[in-house]
Amino acid sequence: MRNILIIGIGSGNPEHLTLEAIAALNRADVLFIPDKGTEKAALRHLREEICARFIRLRSYRSVPVPIPARAPASEDYRGVIDGWHARIAGSYRALFEAELAEGQTGALLVWGDPALYDSTLRIMERVAATGLPLDWQVYPGISSVQVLAARHRIALNTIGGPILITTGRRLAAGFPADQDSVVAMLDGEQAFARLDPEGLDIWWGAYLGTADELLIAGPLAEVSQEIVAERAAARERHGWIMDTYLLRRRA
Ligand SMILES: C[S@@+](CC[C@H](N)C(=O)[O-])C[C@H]1O[C@@H](n2cnc3c(N)ncnc32)[C@H](O)[C@@H]1O
Repeated sequence: MRNILIIGIGSGNPEHLTLEAIAALNRADVLFIPDKGTEKAALRHLREEICARFIRLRSYRSVPVPIPARAPASEDYRGVIDGWHARIAGSYRALFEAELAEGQTGALLVWGDPALYDSTLRIMERVAATGLPLDWQVYPGISSVQVLAARHRIALNTIGGPILITTGRRLAAGFPADQDSVVAMLDGEQAFARLDPEGLDIWWGAYLGTADELLIAGPLAEVSQEIVAERAAARERHGWIMDTYLLRRRA
């Protein structure tokens, strides 16, 4: 049986690794580092920095995991994602078989927390379903959403209220009528800028946890265009951007 540790590594700051995650890193024989191409090269460097800084007990081997490109989103969004996950599961299985002997332990380093907008856990189910004898454990990480709240010094929910965490793609359909606090992730299209800003406040953050962190907050009507401009300039400077934000209906 091969064993895989799924380790949440936080969303940019190596100091956000938990003690449990560091201990898990030190148990792995092989570290699998997902490689999504040049756009995410900066993120790969951070993962490597984490390994160099925290793995103390013995030498380790790291193996890049090429992530196949996703087909462009179509009407059949779920079908596209399903096919993409099947291909990733195929690469994972091949790598586990090639790089880990029976009884060895591998680690997959997952950005932020593995439970939030990350498919590693679903893909592990698929790899196991192919019949490869496999066990795995999950170590939580600090999500970008938690860093956003900490940096802006706000609670995500109002007193006793719910929070909806969703994608920019879904938010583009409008601010949900039955919510007062909505967190948006994976928003490459700046859905906030197309909402009716009346009565909404926004807390936005990019490159959270890194030295390049950007924060803007205020009434959506006043800061929306500032965020759009700041985001475009930062993306141009770095060649990539990751941002997330909380929108809240003003009481
Ligand atoms: C594929 S999801 C992964 C989320 C991750 N599992 C987490 O817990 O934060 C990627 C999205 O997370 C958000 N994100 C991740 N890291 C971020 C960071 N350092 N700063 C701002 N947003 C970030 C962005 O919304 C990005 O589009």
